[in-house]
Amino acid sequence: MRPDQAAADVAVIGGSGFYSFLDDPREIVVETPYGEPSAPISVGVVAGRSVAFVPRHGAGHRFPPHAINYRANAWALRSLGVRQVVAPCAVGGLRSEVAPGDVVVPDQLVDRTQRRVQSFVESGAVHLPFADPYCGRLRHAVLAAGPSLVDGGTMVVIEGPRFSTRAESAHYAAQGWTLINMTGHPEAVLAREMRQCYAAIAVVTDMDAGAEEGEGVGQEEVFARFAANLDRLRGLLTDVIATLPDPDGCSCSTWADGLELTYDIPG
Ligand code: ADE
Repeated sequence: MRPDQAAADVAVIGGSGFYSFLDDPREIVVETPYGEPSAPISVGVVAGRSVAFVPRHGAGHRFPPHAINYRANAWALRSLGVRQVVAPCAVGGLRSEVAPGDVVVPDQLVDRTQRRVQSFVESGAVHLPFADPYCGRLRHAVLAAGPSLVDGGTMVVIEGPRFSTRAESAHYAAQGWTLINMTGHPEAVLAREMRQCYAAIAVVTDMDAGAEEGEGVGQEEVFARFAANLDRLRGLLTDVIATLPDPDGCSCSTWADGLELTYDIPG
């Protein structure tokens, strides 16, 4: 598919609560060399733009974080033409500079996952730049659309599906890391490999076990807090999509110029 035939040029990867924010959606079943994406891709219109949506955990939240087919999701979106991805997610807060209800646009990521396929590269010398794991231009567009958002923070991504022990949580906080999550990796790096701009929008749903009083963090709290912020997030996403910068010329799409990639970038 050539870019001028793209079904969508922007994507949202998020919870199933975002289906309703697409106008007039149609479902596209995409087969990928990596298996099935989490669900058929919904494509609809937001702020006059064609937007693809994939619920990262699939229908009825069937895939836990460690069982999501991140490669299939990334490949499927790119095959539809997507060059920019915004990724809302739930996170725990590790330090007092954030509080439940805050929405943060992280600028750094630490990978503490253990057994996820995190690359399309299966042969050859392809070493992509990842010092800044999120697209700077996309981050700024998100921040400009949401003046109350918190700018920056390091998100550590754990394997899950369990939450952290108090000692693990205190250790992460002591490193100076701000946020904790289970899905932010390898989503970000696979977007980079697909030459897409990618920014996470992190909703703080709890203070992780180190900072949490009482029993520590539990699933109900996380789901309820995320759901309580859905309307706000949908509004933010609409404003972001309306003001996205042109991806042409961004280093997210040019990093591989001149390199011999050993995997296929569709679309
Ligand atoms: N997602 C939301 N809250 C989390 C936490 N405390 N740990 C890991 N992932 C999370």
